[in-house]
Amino acid sequence: MKEPHPQPKPSSYECSSAASLGYIDDPFVKHFIKHSPRRTPLFNRGKSVDMHTDRVPCSPAQPRPDSNPDVRRGLPVIGTYCRIRGIQDTVAKFIDQFSGVSETQVVSLGAGYDTTYFVLKVLHTSYSTLKPSHGMRRMHAVGLNAAPVCRGQAKGKVATRYYEIDFAEITSCKAMMISRKRTLKALLDLPIKGGGLGLSSNGYYLINGDLREFEQAVIPMLVSKYGFKLDTPTLFLSECVLIYLDPQRSDAIIDWITNSMPTASAILVYEQINPNDRFGQMMIQNLKSRNITLKGLHAYPSLEAQRERYSKRGWNHVESIDIATFHDQRVDQAEKSRLASLEILDEWEEFYLLSRHYCFAFAYISTDPRYQPLFSSIHI
Ligand SMILES: C[S@@+](CC[C@H](N)C(=O)[O-])C[C@H]1O[C@@H](n2cnc3c(N)ncnc32)[C@H](O)[C@@H]1O
Repeated sequence: MKEPHPQPKPSSYECSSAASLGYIDDPFVKHFIKHSPRRTPLFNRGKSVDMHTDRVPCSPAQPRPDSNPDVRRGLPVIGTYCRIRGIQDTVAKFIDQFSGVSETQVVSLGAGYDTTYFVLKVLHTSYSTLKPSHGMRRMHAVGLNAAPVCRGQAKGKVATRYYEIDFAEITSCKAMMISRKRTLKALLDLPIKGGGLGLSSNGYYLINGDLREFEQAVIPMLVSKYGFKLDTPTLFLSECVLIYLDPQRSDAIIDWITNSMPTASAILVYEQINPNDRFGQMMIQNLKSRNITLKGLHAYPSLEAQRERYSKRGWNHVESIDIATFHDQRVDQAEKSRLASLEILDEWEEFYLLSRHYCFAFAYISTDPRYQPLFSSIHI
């Protein structure tokens, strides 16, 4: 018998809130939620762990009622802004590095209602395809500021093929929402095929699949129906996803990449760590009270364990960083000043406590000497 689905929740509320307050540029996330409740600054720079775990409704996501602040104060919070920056900047760097050298593929495992594809696509269209003046008009039309989302990146580029995998209940809703929104649909290259459990267009593939059957079902389907190639440079994304799976199953995915796609593969993971300190225990208790278990948390509980996961499999390079350090070292001073001008954050102590319980891990494996230098200039 199959295990029951985990009960995840997309991070669209937090992204939407962060976008509406100017922390990030994402005009698309609003299409995937009904209302965007205003959050505290801490919330906008972070999100509570239970935001990952509510049931995903099969309609535009509904905001949950605001938690009692006293309860929320005790919950782990991570940097929504840092998370989005880390993910989108890394995807953009990967595509940028390989651009003109090779085709690229991005595979978002458990993509939920993530909008990265659309954000990068509009930037690419605006900057590259259209004349600058048209580009600016187009960006304003969809609500993007002139400053690119990936601040520091001159322009967005798109992967040759961008795959989003999730359960059918998510992909069917997302496909429906995309087909109903002109601004989203306009960013897809023809021909667009949909109307069922997913959607595909030239270069963007929203596919239903169970990651627990990655090798047996998901990969064969990508290869046979959607042009996925095993020797094309590929970035796998797992944003709070692998940690939901039994470690044997998530390891099976990494083993499969190691053995079947060693030519040029990278992975970027964002997930919880440090379950054993007082705060980590509280995080686990909070999840348990909602019938949620992060099955991989104890298997890879630290920055070191996250790195070892890939190094012991022979990957060429691996790095990991917690969100507190990401905030301090990767967000430049000008950007910190911009964020400070948006809202006042008093709860720095809390922010640091919380954000030490979330991390990025980035690793790559490449047997092709042409690709190694390209990968080696990508860092979180
Ligand atoms: C916490 S959400 C994260 C969504 C998205 N990555 C983000 O950060 O916005 C976890 C996602 O993983 C998906 N997921 C969990 N287990 C899965 C599985 N076995 N197969 C496919 N998708 C899965 C869930 O449906 C959900 O959309």
